[in-house]
Amino acid sequence: MKILLLGCAGQVGWELQRSLAVLGEVVALDRRSTPLCGDIGQLQALAQTVRTVRPDVIVNAAAHTAVDRAEGEPELARLLNAAAPGVLAHEALALDALLVHYSTDYVFDGSGTAPRDEQAPVAPLSVYGKTKLEGEQAIQASGCRHLIFRTSWVYAARGGNFAKTMLRLGQERERLTVINDQWGAPTGADLLADVTAHAIRHVQRHPQDQGLYHCVAGGATTWHAYASEVIDQARQLRPDLHWPVREVAPVPTSAFPTPARRPANSRLSSDKLQRTMGLYLPPWQQGVARMLREIL
Ligand SMILES: NC(=O)c1ccc[n+]([C@@H]2O[C@H](COP(=O)([O-])OP(=O)(O)OC[C@H]3O[C@@H](n4cnc5c(N)ncnc54)[C@H](OP(=O)(O)O)[C@@H]3O)[C@@H](O)[C@H]2O)c1
Repeated sequence: MKILLLGCAGQVGWELQRSLAVLGEVVALDRRSTPLCGDIGQLQALAQTVRTVRPDVIVNAAAHTAVDRAEGEPELARLLNAAAPGVLAHEALALDALLVHYSTDYVFDGSGTAPRDEQAPVAPLSVYGKTKLEGEQAIQASGCRHLIFRTSWVYAARGGNFAKTMLRLGQERERLTVINDQWGAPTGADLLADVTAHAIRHVQRHPQDQGLYHCVAGGATTWHAYASEVIDQARQLRPDLHWPVREVAPVPTSAFPTPARRPANSRLSSDKLQRTMGLYLPPWQQGVARMLREIL
């Protein structure tokens, strides 16, 4: 099997380099790659890359993920999050390749408290959410074989993320204020990458199971409880480090005004994925504990 991986230097892309390696030859590109173009914003060159590589599977981990910046650059966000997946879908259809793509809890408005399944009505609040939804729709409309994984609150040992910011601030400040009215599940890039590899194998044998899946770690928490857990564990793991932080104070979303609105309820149900593919998504604390052991 030949796999074209785009966005190989991002959180998820980096872990995909590891998890996809056992499936076949992986051509891993990032935006700076040459001579094959890995810049998903260059649509013609991107299409040419697919035609040159002729992969059996395209995995797209590249995206415009700067949620607040996207509010000020909607055209760039639309190019990367909607037009590029559309081009990949078109090329995948022509080759009869499988396209694997990632989307987000931000396609929802976050009302209520229940976990959403794949049938739940979408209503994005931000440019990022809107353009990611357009990307999903372009893939679905193309008729190509595809897997789309909607996920949330992604972290990894490599790259910048919320948990690492909390670790840094916990070593600098006595008091942290963290939002406690947004709910979701921190999901490891390693978990997503492993699920992706299993899912590719699964749909090779069960092509009827291609489609849209929610894929998040088990359970749910708030940013505040997540930050508290990270600081508590970090203190226990590395008592030798300087941890001046005495208080992690809960505050409402309104305390941190941002250009992009975020959903209050980002709970996603991964039941369809677990049922269909026979997989188990472990509690979010498990992956976070492992990441902390790795980086501390
Ligand atoms: N992070 C989250 O919390 C989260 C939540 C839900 C869904 N997702 C989705 O999960 C997927 C993977 O996200 P992630 O967490 O791995 O994000 P990430 O770490 O920000 O990785 C995204 C990658 O895309 C690359 N990229 C940006 N513009 C590009 C371009 N023009 N051409 C090629 N590559 C480009 C970035 O490269 P540079 O670093 O060079 O810009 C980066 O390596 C995305 O589809 C994202 O929308 C993420």
